[in-house]
Amino acid sequence: MSAPRGQFSSNVGFLMAAAGSAVGLGNIWGFPTKAASNGGAAFVVIYLLLAFVLAYPALMAELTIGRHARRNMVQALREISTGPVSRFFANLTGFGGILIASLILSFYAIVAGWMVAHLAEPFATLIGASSTADWLTSSSTARNMTFTAIFSGLTMLIIASGVEKGIERWSTLLMPSLIILLLLLIMYVLTQPGAIIGLQVYLMPDFSQVSPELLLSAMGQAFFSLSLGVGTMLIYGSYLSQQESLPRLGVLVTLIDVGIAFTAGLLILPAMYVAQEAGTQIFADDGSLIAGPGLILQVLPALFDSMGTIGLVVALAFFALMTIASLTSSISMLEVPVAFSIENLKLPRRSATLLVGLIIFAISSVIIFNFDALFGLVISISTEYGQPLLGVSLCIFAGWIWRRDQLLQELRKGHENIEQTLFWKIWPWYVRVVCPLLILAAFVQTLL
Ligand code: TRP
Repeated sequence: MSAPRGQFSSNVGFLMAAAGSAVGLGNIWGFPTKAASNGGAAFVVIYLLLAFVLAYPALMAELTIGRHARRNMVQALREISTGPVSRFFANLTGFGGILIASLILSFYAIVAGWMVAHLAEPFATLIGASSTADWLTSSSTARNMTFTAIFSGLTMLIIASGVEKGIERWSTLLMPSLIILLLLLIMYVLTQPGAIIGLQVYLMPDFSQVSPELLLSAMGQAFFSLSLGVGTMLIYGSYLSQQESLPRLGVLVTLIDVGIAFTAGLLILPAMYVAQEAGTQIFADDGSLIAGPGLILQVLPALFDSMGTIGLVVALAFFALMTIASLTSSISMLEVPVAFSIENLKLPRRSATLLVGLIIFAISSVIIFNFDALFGLVISISTEYGQPLLGVSLCIFAGWIWRRDQLLQELRKGHENIEQTLFWKIWPWYVRVVCPLLILAAFVQTLL
């Protein structure tokens, strides 16, 4: 009774969806602020390096396993397992991925809810509802619950419509709008006083700040930004047709992700210094640049306020950008547990979406009601521990457990001469040895 499996209708559809997953709050908010507080261009260079030498190979592992098995991560890893031990690890990794993807979505939906609330604010201001506008932009449990619910509802609506009509259609619509909004905002901000100082901070390398912590932070950023470890890219790979060359698509997704992160820096950093020029405090008391929620939710709104009426339009464009980026990412997280429920529990897509969506919303609610205790904790457990450990396991599956001839056969589809390429000469031993060791080394460091 299982329905025919969904599939992306073209490689452009897959690209939009995979790039949409990768491009999110991590790019537009996480990357620029980490770069600003970690030596500017020094961080940018190291991040670029890590994205290609570490994240890209891990991305390829997920895409290849996914397209080969045409199943969710639990089922896919079981299928390439060769004995009881690897089967045990297949279950552990598969269910671990579902859990971590759900936890990531549970906090991501809260932050994305803030973006939606700020998107609504200019409308409230325009119609003169100033107390509503205040409510929308000040933190409260009621506001957080309302907008997390709205954002989660939107995510569920898209996922309930399936791969082609939901994920692909909305990503193909939203990704180009995101790029246009981003470019328009950059053009505007760069004409404002103070913008050039921001550009300098962003683009002048200060290599004295390169430290083990910086490497770790850049690695975590690369993993989060490419949506790795939890089976998001694996499931998107499983919806990909066999006519496409995986190594090539993987490079494109990495390039788009890194490109948009870098471009977002050209907006965020100049905007911060424009805000300073306009009288907003952008350094915390200890002299560090304000980077956390304070940046997006205080510094930039203060800047928009100081611009008068045009500020309303700019605020609208900015928070629309953030909402769109969040939505194309959140759907890719929800698809992980939903695909499992459809394929392994045999639920229809709509019921699976409703059930899983409500469970994750319940987790978000627990976090909202215990915000100070749980918010940071869930982020750290899922992104600093969960994602890298699952990443190691996936590399081990691709490099050690999966039969090499099957791996080659899969990569040959859509790329006939793969054996003659540099990719095939380097990547197999690379995911086998280098990736797991690099990730583990960085990970052990956090524990020390
Ligand atoms: N990559 C997205 C961002 O940069 C977030 C994201 C989407 C993600 N899917 C994921 C992170 C899966 C980890 C795992 O915002």
